[in-house]
Amino acid sequence: MIELAPSILSADFARLGAEAQAAVEGGASVLHVDVMDGHFVPNITIGPPVVACLRKVSKVPLDCHLMIEQPDQFIPAFAQAGADWISVHREACVHLDRTLHLIAAHGCKPGVVINPATPVIAIDEVLALVHHVLVMSVNPGFGGQTFIHSSLKKIELLSKIRESRRLGFRIEVDGGVHRDTVADVVRAGAEILVSGSAIFEQGNPSENARQLLKAALDVTKQPVQDLSSVVGGSAAGERGNSLRLP
Ligand code: DX5
Ligand code: ZN
Repeated sequence: MIELAPSILSADFARLGAEAQAAVEGGASVLHVDVMDGHFVPNITIGPPVVACLRKVSKVPLDCHLMIEQPDQFIPAFAQAGADWISVHREACVHLDRTLHLIAAHGCKPGVVINPATPVIAIDEVLALVHHVLVMSVNPGFGGQTFIHSSLKKIELLSKIRESRRLGFRIEVDGGVHRDTVADVVRAGAEILVSGSAIFEQGNPSENARQLLKAALDVTKQPVQDLSSVVGGSAAGERGNSLRLP
């Protein structure tokens, strides 16, 4: 199932509740909350009090992406504030297995995140533990950056591993997702699409969300015969199948 998870990082914080609600009205079904500590990434954003405020105005799952060092110290506070999903970076966790169990023990869905320079193999041992894998398609720290195309191969690989091992994790992508890149990430196998600047920076968040979600869903509806006319023969079936979501 394709879901849109607007990143509130690019929202107008003075109108955060209304902006988040507008995105949800446009079809977003998750709200992505970027937490930065000024150490793991060169930027500082928000903490549990803002999550608690969002919790009061929205019922959709709050997806807290912790770009922080020593996340174990803060997981209880985010859970208490109302986070539903909490993801931590492979690169920030020495004892990743323990941290993922800690998230689950606090009643939240655990996720693991990999930076553009981190290969999928680095999280191989925890794939059975996580609710979602978040593939960064920019270097974390800022909104509005350019999509890094090598992340597509990692999304494809995760999709294949999930199928071959019959695992249940969901695949999320974060960074540079907008109307020009959304089709590629959906074709690669991403299903939870984080998007910040494309939703909140210009125009109406509700309409922006609606259009981006429609563009993503249109990819999944593309009929097999569309490709058969392009490639022909038995290869047509193979290409067509590769467009479908797992
Ligand atoms: C980057 C954050 C992203 C960011 C995405 O560190 O994790 O969630 O807000 O913003 P866009 O969609 O503008 O790349
Ligand atoms: Zn994020």
